[in-house]
Order: sequence, then structure tokens, then C-alpha cells
Amino acid sequence: MLAIRLVGGPERSDALALPIRPAGTAEDGAQGATVLPGLPALADDVLAEAAALAPAARATGRAGEVHVHLRPGRVPARLLLVGAGDGDESGWRAAGAALARSASGETHLTIMMPVDVEPDAVRGLVEGLLLASYRFRLTEAGESPALAGVDVAVGDPTAYADVVERAEVTARMTRLARDLTNTPSSVKNPQWFAEQVEAAVADRPDLRLRVRQPDELAAEGFGGILAVGGGSASGPRLVELDWHPADARTHVVLVGKGITFDTGGISIKPVPAMKLMRKDMAGAAAVVAATLGAAALRLPVRITTLTPLAENAVSGSAFRPGDVITHYGGVTSETTNSDAEGRLVLADALAYAVAELKPDLLIDLATLTGANMVALGKRTGALYSDNDELAADVLAAIDAAGESAWRMPLPADYVEYLGSDVADLYSAPNQGGGSVLAALYLREFTGDLRQRWLHVDMSAPSWADGDAAELTRGATGWGVRGLLRWLATLG
Ligand code: BES
Ligand code: MN
Ligand code: ZN
Repeated sequence: MLAIRLVGGPERSDALALPIRPAGTAEDGAQGATVLPGLPALADDVLAEAAALAPAARATGRAGEVHVHLRPGRVPARLLLVGAGDGDESGWRAAGAALARSASGETHLTIMMPVDVEPDAVRGLVEGLLLASYRFRLTEAGESPALAGVDVAVGDPTAYADVVERAEVTARMTRLARDLTNTPSSVKNPQWFAEQVEAAVADRPDLRLRVRQPDELAAEGFGGILAVGGGSASGPRLVELDWHPADARTHVVLVGKGITFDTGGISIKPVPAMKLMRKDMAGAAAVVAATLGAAALRLPVRITTLTPLAENAVSGSAFRPGDVITHYGGVTSETTNSDAEGRLVLADALAYAVAELKPDLLIDLATLTGANMVALGKRTGALYSDNDELAADVLAAIDAAGESAWRMPLPADYVEYLGSDVADLYSAPNQGGGSVLAALYLREFTGDLRQRWLHVDMSAPSWADGDAAELTRGATGWGVRGLLRWLATLG
């Protein structure tokens, strides 16, 4: 990961970035960009030069715009004007991301900040730098960015140490979630995922980890996880990770869907729909990474994280459409479509959390339905909860963190579609909105935590088709940033 250093003033002479912003508002008619006020004086009258360059380059100051100026034979050798937009955290996040891309040919970059800049600006800048410079490669082939170190020049470096730590932990964990999700399913089976969690907690005796093997899942009645995992040569697992600080007053359970590959099972997916199904454990990756991040930041909240892990494969031992499955705790599901597998494994984990862990709040993240994208497009998760306050709090955290979600309804009218002639529930009704019905199905397993449960269908924003601001093509690590923000508000 890019090494970020807070410094009191520029120490290196290679490349220097100066922030600019729009000169005025549309109403006052001002056009173009101005250099941000409050920057410290610089040698060689660089600030005056930047002020003259901005109009010459037709700079607008919009967040994420970068103009590179070459200064052969002078110091610094390259001057980058970077738009910080409104100067809020999201503007700076876009600026950091744009700099990571425009300066990828530099080995080192110094970014000047106004002396009394808000801590959130530094947070956004650092997150943008660290997230946009992410690359996933399994081999050494191909070009990797040269940029290895960034100095962020602020008036008083010690004043920003905390926000930089938060930004670094958030970015490191988002990158971990991206790595797990990008990994091909030839490598990534349930056991592999559990081993990655084991490796991550190896040097953290303050985190407790239990991985249930298939025989333990059978002994305890996790019928949904066993049914979905039954068709694969790589058996299912249930990861239970616990961060339990002494000063915790709130206990949150996080559940993440961990399908390491989703063929659809016997109800097999067509080729285009199956193409990216290695990402079907992005929910599990996000909740594990957020929990590790909370522990790294020593957040005073207890978090128990459950990731039901299974490969939804096609074979003679795969579960069939029409099978009736008995979940943890005894509720049964008729499964007419083996491609609606995520809700079956989540049902076990939710029921287990309610019965055995008895948390204050229950949250699940899942790449649950293609309907998420139909409803909300490619960037926005579908959030469900019967609890207005919880929904508002989590939405606010997601928004502040630079992610996106939209609250969806849980209409009473549709509940009847979950009725089955032969079992308690029907897992794949083909009436009603797909993402909504999946959420209504999950709610049936929340027991007396029904009013303290929140679910996000994150199928769409878990993946990016191309680089965009702090996102890089492929897995986005969606959810890690929002969850960490929200967890930091509890305690
Ligand atoms: N993993 C898929 C959902 C998905 C689709 C995630 C596209 C990301 C992108 C899930 O298991 C699934 O197959 N859902 C079905 C549900 C249906 C059978 C009721 C779907 O959305 O088609
Ligand atoms: Mn499926
Ligand atoms: Zn799936």
C-alpha cells in the first residue's frame, strides 16, 4: 500500500500538488478556478505561478480534476493542480483518487494542504489516494504504478494523526475485501476463505475465531448452509469472529453472504449471469474486513461476525428444486429455485444469531439479487429495515463514507407470497420485486430482533465495471467504509 506521511512542509522537490477550487458559485457568475486560500508560502513563488496557471489551463476546480505542469530545470519539477470541489470530505476523496491516477508515474508526490484544513478533508484525501491506487494481480506481469510514497503537508502533523489512522485502516480493510472478492474461485473455496480470516487474526489474540466444519454444521442443524454447500467438492463452513472489548456496551452481529461461487446449482445460471459469480461472497468479505478494522481501531463495541460459506455447485449431491430444507432452529423452506441460495445460508446464520448470540442489533450484507441493479443501478445498495432510526443512522454513515444505498420498503402485502403448501416458507416466489421478496424472506428469521434488524442487498455496488474516482475495476469492497463509520458511532 502507498506509504502516506504527514509532514509540516514540503521536503521533496520532485512533484508538488496544489489544491484549487471553483472561483465562485454559478449565481455570482464567477468562472474558472482559484488556488485554495490558506496554503503556506512556497519557494520560487510557486503559489503565484499556480494562480496564473489555473486560468491558462482552463481549470474549473471541480473535485477530481487534475492539470499537470512541467517545470524543466526548476524545483519542483512538476506542479499538479488538483480540484478539491467544495472542499468537503467527498471532494477531497475525489482529489486524492485523481492524484493517485495522474501521478502514478511519479515515485513520490507531495500534496500541500491549507494550514488549518478540516481533519475530514485529510481523511478524504488519504482514503482517495489509498483506494484508487489499489491493483489486484495474481502474477507480477503488467505495469504496476510507480507511486510509492506521498507526503501530505499540513500545518501541524500531530493534529491529523488520528484521522490518518482511521483513513488508513478503512482503506486497508476495503482493499482486503477487494482482494478476497477478486480472487478466482479456483482458489477461493469456503475453507480458503476461513483460512484467510485465520491468517488475519493470527497476530490478534484479542479476536476470537471459530470455524465450524461440515460435521459440526450437521450436528447443530445448519440445514440451509449444508443444502447449498452439498453439491460442491469443497464443503461449507461457518466463520464466527468475535471482537469483544471490555468497554463495549452495544453488541452488534454482522452477517455476510459467503457463496464462494454461484453456478445457480441445478437451476443453473446462463453464461453471462454466471460470469462474475466469484463475487458472491462480497458480503462476507465486507463484514469480516469491517470487524478487523473495528478491532484495529479498538472501537468500543462488541461485534460478532458470521459468514456462512458455501459453493453453490452442480452435481449429483446438489440440492434440488422442490427440496424442503430445515434451517437452524427448525423453520423449513421449500426451495423451488436452487439459484436463490443466498437467503438459505443467511437464514441459518440469522436464526443462530437470534437464538444464541442475542445481540442488540443484527445487520446483514449480501449480494442477494440481480434485482438490486434493476431497481437502483450499479452503484447503490438496497437497504431494508423496519427500524427508522437504525436505517437513518446506517444510511448516514454509508453516505458520509462515500458509498451509496437507498432505503427500500418491506410491504406487508407481499408477505403472503412467502407461503408454501409443503413447508413454512417458500424461498423463491416469482411475484413482487426480487430484492424486496428476498428481504421479506430473511426477516422471517429475525425473531424478536425483527425491529433491530437491517439488511443490505449489495449485489450491484459490490463490483465496478471500470475505474471511477476511488473505485477500481472489479471488486469495490462495498460496505467496509459504511460499516466502519457506523460502528464508530456506537459505543
Ligand atoms: N448471487 C445471485 C445474485 C446476483 C445477481 C448477485 C447478479 C450479483 C449480480 C443470487 O444468488 C441469485 O442468483 N439470485 C436470484 C434470485 C432468484 C432466483 C429468486 C436472482 O437475482 O436472479
Ligand atoms: Mn444464486
Ligand atoms: Zn448468489
